[in-house]
Amino acid sequence: MDHLRMNGAYWGLSTLDLLHKIGTVNPDEVVSWVMSCQHQECGGFGGNVGHDLHLLYTLSAVQILALLDRLDVLDIEKVSDYVSGLQNEDGSFSGDMWGEIDTRFSYIAICCLAILRQLDKINVGKAVEYIVSCKNLDGGFGSTPGGESHAGQIFCCVGALAITGSLHHVDRDLLGWWLCERQCKDGGLNGRPEKLADVCYSWWVLCSLIMIGRVHWIDTEKLASFILNCQDRENGGISDGPDNAVDVYHTFFGLAGLSLMEYPGLKSIDPAYASPVDVVNRIFFGKSRIA
Ligand code: FPP
Ligand code: ZN
Repeated sequence: MDHLRMNGAYWGLSTLDLLHKIGTVNPDEVVSWVMSCQHQECGGFGGNVGHDLHLLYTLSAVQILALLDRLDVLDIEKVSDYVSGLQNEDGSFSGDMWGEIDTRFSYIAICCLAILRQLDKINVGKAVEYIVSCKNLDGGFGSTPGGESHAGQIFCCVGALAITGSLHHVDRDLLGWWLCERQCKDGGLNGRPEKLADVCYSWWVLCSLIMIGRVHWIDTEKLASFILNCQDRENGGISDGPDNAVDVYHTFFGLAGLSLMEYPGLKSIDPAYASPVDVVNRIFFGKSRIA
């Protein structure tokens, strides 16, 4: 897991925060490690110290710093130049210098620049146009034009459209129907037709349904029971399915799903920014340490 440690840190720290336990980590140590993963020449972040930089790790780094209210340590200009520099002529985004294009990268760039309040550095109209070109006849979205609808990509496209105020491009009833069909007999959600339910889709599907106002089309009580049934009751953590081995990714997205369903004792998470609501409010409405 060395190559994606920055994501692991985002999942782990966000989990602690949702549980009101962020006080158990030393923020200075975390900030210093995050910053040691930055590539000084171009501003992007790697998944670990000395690893190649990528948009995904850059968003995780920014989300961690926002969570700890330490965005002030960033050279905002440099980081946002790196992110905006990955936009292509057709509005799409590459994930890194090697050029792979995917709607995941559109979401990552838009979310990251919105948190840094630098969305005006990209052509938002073209970015939205590209995402809309990935919309399918079933109302869902794929990774590139013509790509199969997939709940993970749908989260990315709907999230990016929500952040840019462009949700009018979504056919809410058609997409809502496709998404609510993801609920399986065991109450869990899958990512595509004919797949098994997986705890992480409690996030990808549920927050897409919330963003388009159709969450009442699934049985949230059954979904919450499915997630709770994937806990390791002896050692803690949540797995992808009942009786499987736990990991920090499914622990975060399981908890985030429960948070979206207002499970008692958890902080609320914002469905578009995938960060706690109080963090998002601090960035956009409150006093944050951002310069
Ligand atoms: C499923 O992946 C998930 C996706 C395709 C969406 C990933 C989204 C990002 C990386 C954007 C950043 C997200 C956040 C929350 C900040 P998978 O490979 O597990 O799919 P599979 O279930 O089909 O194997
Ligand atoms: Zn999963």
